[in-house]
Amino acid sequence: MEISKIRFAVFASGNGTNAENIFTHIGDNPKSEVCCLVTDNQDAFVVTRAKNHGINYHIVEKSSGDNKIKHEKNIVKILDTYKPDWILLAGYMRILSPFFLEKFSGKKGQSRVINIHPSMLPKFKGMDAYRQAYDANVDTSGVTVHFVDSGIDTGSQIMQESFPRYRNDTFDDFKSRGMNIEYTLYRKVIDQITGQSVRERCDGYH
Ligand code: GAR
Repeated sequence: MEISKIRFAVFASGNGTNAENIFTHIGDNPKSEVCCLVTDNQDAFVVTRAKNHGINYHIVEKSSGDNKIKHEKNIVKILDTYKPDWILLAGYMRILSPFFLEKFSGKKGQSRVINIHPSMLPKFKGMDAYRQAYDANVDTSGVTVHFVDSGIDTGSQIMQESFPRYRNDTFDDFKSRGMNIEYTLYRKVIDQITGQSVRERCDGYH
């Protein structure tokens, strides 16, 4: 009997280095697959990355007349055709509404949407977290992978890893150290999902 693969949809808005890391890592695992990329930005380089990996992609921009729910309904319509088990946010720069999160939650309301945030949450929530941490002269910063709830970077944490900021670091040194942590951390979380320990915390689709 063929066991169905765990299906991941990836959401990204920009360059997409995290998305690329996910495409490669999931592509190496016969138990899982990236079913599609969703982006809200037609100019995002992540679209080129998806094309290069042969991954289905959907550009769903928010037009000026659309409110958040209308935009999210357009995304849900697409996802309904893929039925992803999990949604991985990888530099997706929109806050998802309770409407969307409710659609992608388990029977007991657990989130099936996961985000990576470039700080040691709860520190430095929101935009430009590397810049916030660097400008605050921290000795250590970090990266957090967490379930998404309707707050801004407030959902329960899955995994966190710190990294040092050295005295002579330029902003680019600091950020590139953090980005490398992002890639390894997301890979570890995906391995947990495909190997169950996170999956068991969520008991099936709505
Ligand atoms: C990453 O640093 C990611 O953690 C961050 O955006 C960057 C996207 O880079 N996400 C957030 O700040 C979400 N709040 P990428 O497009 O190269 O993956």
